[in-house]
Amino acid sequence: MQPITIGIIGCGVISDVYLKGARRSDYINVKSVADMHSEAAAAKAAEHGVIAATSPEVLLADPDISIVINLTVPLAHATVNRAIVAAGKHVYAEKPLCASFAEAQELLALAAKAGVRVGGAPDTFMGASHQAGRRAIDEGRIGKVIAGAATVLGHGMEHWHPNPDFFFIKGGGPVLDFGPYYVTDLVQLLGPVDRVAAETTIGNPVRTITSQPRAGEKLKVEIETTATALLSFVSGATIALTASWDVWKNKRLPFELYGVDGSLLVPDPNFFGGTPEISEKGADWAALDITVHPFHAANRTLRDGREVADYRIIGLLDMAAAIQQNRPHRASGQLSTHVLEVLEAIGTAGTEKRWVDLTTTCERPAAVPLGAGEEVFAA
Ligand SMILES: NC(=O)c1ccc[n+]([C@@H]2O[C@H](COP(=O)([O-])OP(=O)(O)OC[C@H]3O[C@@H](n4cnc5c(N)ncnc54)[C@H](O)[C@@H]3O)[C@@H](O)[C@H]2O)c1
Repeated sequence: MQPITIGIIGCGVISDVYLKGARRSDYINVKSVADMHSEAAAAKAAEHGVIAATSPEVLLADPDISIVINLTVPLAHATVNRAIVAAGKHVYAEKPLCASFAEAQELLALAAKAGVRVGGAPDTFMGASHQAGRRAIDEGRIGKVIAGAATVLGHGMEHWHPNPDFFFIKGGGPVLDFGPYYVTDLVQLLGPVDRVAAETTIGNPVRTITSQPRAGEKLKVEIETTATALLSFVSGATIALTASWDVWKNKRLPFELYGVDGSLLVPDPNFFGGTPEISEKGADWAALDITVHPFHAANRTLRDGREVADYRIIGLLDMAAAIQQNRPHRASGQLSTHVLEVLEAIGTAGTEKRWVDLTTTCERPAAVPLGAGEEVFAA
C-alpha cells in the first residue's frame, strides 16, 4: 500500500488519539494540523511532531493532502465536511457525521458529485472483540438473532471534558454522542434498521462543570439526556437501547444479543478490545478468542486506570486502502448516514410518541480479515 498524506482539522481532546494512531501507522503521514484557534493547532503540532500547524484554508489548498480528518465539534461538522469536499479531498469525520441527517444526506450527494469518498467514525466496530462477535454470528453459533439490549449509562461529560458545551446542545446528547458506537456495531452485526420507537427525557436541565479550567460554570441542557429506544432491524431482530447521562451507577452489560441457539455478550463498542462471551444452547459462558483478530491489544490507559485497545484512525486507513484497491471502505458515509438517521429517529420517536420508519439502508460492512495489524488492509 502507498503511504497517504493527510491533514487534520480540529485540534481538541480527541486529536491526540488520532495523532498517536497516525504515528503508529506505516501508511499514514500527517502533513498538517489546523484549527480555528491557531494556538490549538500549534500546540498539537509541537506535541506530536507534525511539520505544519496552519489554518483550515491553507490545509485545504495543499495538493499533497488527499484525505482530511474532521475532528471539530458536531455543530461544525457539516460546514467543515463541505469545505473538505469542495477542496476535492476525501473526508473522514468524527461522529456524528453531521449534526443532522439532512446535512449528512447533502454531504453524500456533494461528495458523489465531486468524486470523493466520505468516511465516518466510529471505527471501533472493526476492532477485535466486535469482529470476533460478528464471526460467531456469521458462523451461526447463536442462530438467528431475535432480541437483545445495548446499554450506555453514565453521568455526563462535564466532570472531565475541558469544554463540555457541545455535549448538551444540538448534535450532542448521549444518543448522538455514544449512540454511534452502539448502533454502528449493531448494524455491522445484524444489518440495517427498519424502524424505531423511543421515550426520551432531560434529567437535569442545568449542569455544573466540575472539570478544569471552567469548574463552577453552569450549562443549560438543550438536548435529551436519557433515551429508552426500541430498534427494529430488517433482519427481524429487536434491540432495546438505553442511552443516558443521568445515571450515577448501574450493573448492566454494554451489549447482549439473544439468538434462537444461544446468547452473545459483546464488550463496550467504545473500544476495540475486551472479551466477548458466548453461550451455545444454554452451555456455560465461553470466551471468544480475539487474538486472531487485528487491533486487540490494550494500548491506552483511561482516566479511571482501565487499559483499553484504542486504534481510532483505522477506519481512515481502510478508506485509503480501499481507494487504492478500488473497493468499498467499511466505515463509510452510507453506514454513518444510516446510523445518524436511526439516532435522529430516536429523538423524533421520543418527541412525537410514535414509531419512525427509516428511509435509508446500507450494506453490512465487510468483515475485517484475520491478522495481526494494519497489514490486513494493505493486502
Ligand atoms: N473527546 C473524546 O473523547 C471523543 C471521543 C470520540 C469522539 N469524539 C468526537 O470528536 C470530535 C471532537 O471532540 P473533542 O472532544 O476533541 O472536542 P474539542 O472541543 O476538545 O475540540 C474541537 C476542536 O475543534 C475546533 N473547531 C471547532 N469548530 C471549528 C471549525 N469550524 N474549524 C476549525 N476548527 C474548529 C475547536 O477550536 C477545538 O480545538 C467530536 O465530534 C466528538 O464527538 C470525541
